[in-house]
Amino acid sequence: MKTGAGDAVKSPVAGLRAGAIVKLNAAFLAFFFLVYMALLLHPNYSHILDRGASSLVRCTFRDACPSASQLPRKGGRSSASASANKAVVATERIVNAGRAPTMFSELRGRLRMGLVNIGRDELLALGVEGDAVAVGFDRVSDVFRWSDLFPEWIDEEEEDGVPSCPEIPMPDFSRYDDGEVDVVVAALPCNRTAPQGWNRDVFRLQVHLVAAQVAARKGRRDGGGRVRVVLRSACEPMMDLFRCDESVGREGDWWMYNVDAPRLEEKLRLPVGSCNLALPLWGPTGIHEVLNSSDQLTAVNAGNPRREAYATVLHSSDRYLCGAIVLAQSIRRSGSTRDMVLLHDHTVSKPALRALVAAGWIPRRIRRIRNPRAERGSYNEYNYSKFRLWQLTEYFRVVFIDADILVLRSLDALFRFPQISAVGNDGSLFNSGIMVIEPSACTFEALVRGRRTIRSYNGGDQGYLNEVFVWWHRLPRRVNYLKNFWANTTGERALKERLFGAEPAEVWSIHYLGLKPWRCYRDYDCNWNIDDQRVYASDEAHRRWWQVYDQMGEVMRGPCALSERRKIEIAWDRHVAQEIGYDDQHWKINITDPRKWE
Ligand SMILES: *[C@@H]1O[C@H](CO)[C@@H](O)[C@H](O)[C@H]1NC(C)=O
Ligand SMILES: *[C@@H]1O[C@H](CO)[C@@H](O)[C@H](O)[C@H]1NC(C)=O
Ligand SMILES: *[C@@H]1O[C@H](CO)[C@@H](O)[C@H](O)[C@H]1NC(C)=O
Ligand SMILES: *[C@@H]1O[C@H](CO)[C@@H](O)[C@H](O)[C@H]1NC(C)=O
Ligand SMILES: *[C@@H]1O[C@H](CO)[C@@H](O)[C@H](O)[C@H]1NC(C)=O
Repeated sequence: MKTGAGDAVKSPVAGLRAGAIVKLNAAFLAFFFLVYMALLLHPNYSHILDRGASSLVRCTFRDACPSASQLPRKGGRSSASASANKAVVATERIVNAGRAPTMFSELRGRLRMGLVNIGRDELLALGVEGDAVAVGFDRVSDVFRWSDLFPEWIDEEEEDGVPSCPEIPMPDFSRYDDGEVDVVVAALPCNRTAPQGWNRDVFRLQVHLVAAQVAARKGRRDGGGRVRVVLRSACEPMMDLFRCDESVGREGDWWMYNVDAPRLEEKLRLPVGSCNLALPLWGPTGIHEVLNSSDQLTAVNAGNPRREAYATVLHSSDRYLCGAIVLAQSIRRSGSTRDMVLLHDHTVSKPALRALVAAGWIPRRIRRIRNPRAERGSYNEYNYSKFRLWQLTEYFRVVFIDADILVLRSLDALFRFPQISAVGNDGSLFNSGIMVIEPSACTFEALVRGRRTIRSYNGGDQGYLNEVFVWWHRLPRRVNYLKNFWANTTGERALKERLFGAEPAEVWSIHYLGLKPWRCYRDYDCNWNIDDQRVYASDEAHRRWWQVYDQMGEVMRGPCALSERRKIEIAWDRHVAQEIGYDDQHWKINITDPRKWE
């Protein structure tokens, strides 16, 4: 910058004689010196030179105010002064009665404010009066990627080491121990050109976390444990931390919240990303320690299991009916007594509904939600029906489970995890097959509102939800164990078949990818018959599912009958497998399943 400006000045005057330039400069200097002295000595104008005075920074809300970098820095806002100076941070009086948006009127008066990533001058723009405490922190390094916080794979079973998260710099809270703040004010970055998208920007997450930490540790709580937070952001603040339910107003880029501090504390105890498990899987007594101690309820919902439910969704066809029935039975067999809610559309028949109720579901009819980007008649056209889970507001938490999952061990411990907790999928994404959600009417509205603008990478609900809830918490893979053999090695097959078959169970559930067990005969997994489905074939997983089926009563089995058309398909696939002569020889197994003749 400096050299560039110098060059630009030099070239046009290069032709002038040096002596003339010196004289000219001297004349100008003398003139400015006189003006300067006049101003300094004249009482009416001297304040113009006092650039730190608030009188100069009188700009109203929405006006372009000078940013902190243009004004002298005060109050240790910059990270450099934060790390250099270990003394307790001084507060600074802000005196200004400019025009503020009406929603800020309650912020008037003698308030103590904690400022995060925002300068006091920017607050003057709001016309807010009070004492400002600038919260300093080191900005997270630019080389830091979202995928460092949300890696695709972690060594969660600690075969070679203990997974750990990179550290995100936080304020040194020991410097702020002189009292509470009445309100936390933060400016969130909204970088539309960030490499992994504005919502997967690490600095943005850092500012969210700092603001949340200040609110949880230093915020003055009202009688209901709520803390006032004001955010300035051109894009929606992360719903994971600042929920729409807790929003008390918005004007332009300013958002105001009354945040439930215990809930915030619960979220802040979690790892900063999916770089580590939300709860450690391997306690001193091994894998079982965490997940079968479900009696420890969260502080937020202490001792209220009535407000927790399992839920699944059936829409558009009867293909998953049988799966949902067996799922309910498997949840009950795992020992859970929580409510089980079934969201279904008009395609579920009366007899099918009777079977579902017999299995334990509390049915609730919904109107399905179309994905406006899906093609008419495509398999995922109505997948956004899942959003209706957020309408189950009589429950505090809901554990959603896909109908092609079989539960082997109680998942009740999941109710201790906040929204959204799930197992990892590919990249930085979670698998939406099992997820912990927190119903909320305004979250539901936000999901429905966004469906025209937010793009889902796979056209399904999983891709969509991953765009909205980027700050998710990792559950152990064994909670939602995918039935696949993508590595296609004998080692993988030996390990997974052992896990699927182990008694007592060593995985909490099996997620049946590929052809579903109820679309095959019970004698063998029909994925073995089809070339590109063979990576999903598992004898142990198949057997496990039919074990639960076998113990069901007649009423529940009704929807599991095979159509004539499906029987012909199975026979054809089996014939093809025989022609190819796969050497696992499943195609040789005689069919004894009575469904073949029903
Ligand atoms: C936004 O992100 C890009 C890419 O990382 C970066 O170059 C730019 O400086 C960022 N802008 C702001 C305002 O932080
Ligand atoms: C957890 O489950 C395992 C296996 O079923 C059992 O051996 C263990 O005693 C259980 N632990 C607790 C705390 O219930
Ligand atoms: C859409 O829903 C159907 C039925 O629930 C499911 O089989 C399919 O995998 C879903 N598609 C996507 C892309 O999520
Ligand atoms: C799996 O391995 C077998 C034998 O090594 C090979 O024939 C088959 O094509 C592989 N399947 C896939 C899906 O990679
Ligand atoms: C299947 O049934 C046929 C005739 O019913 C019999 O000859 C054959 O041995 C049976 N195969 C097996 C593997 O049981």
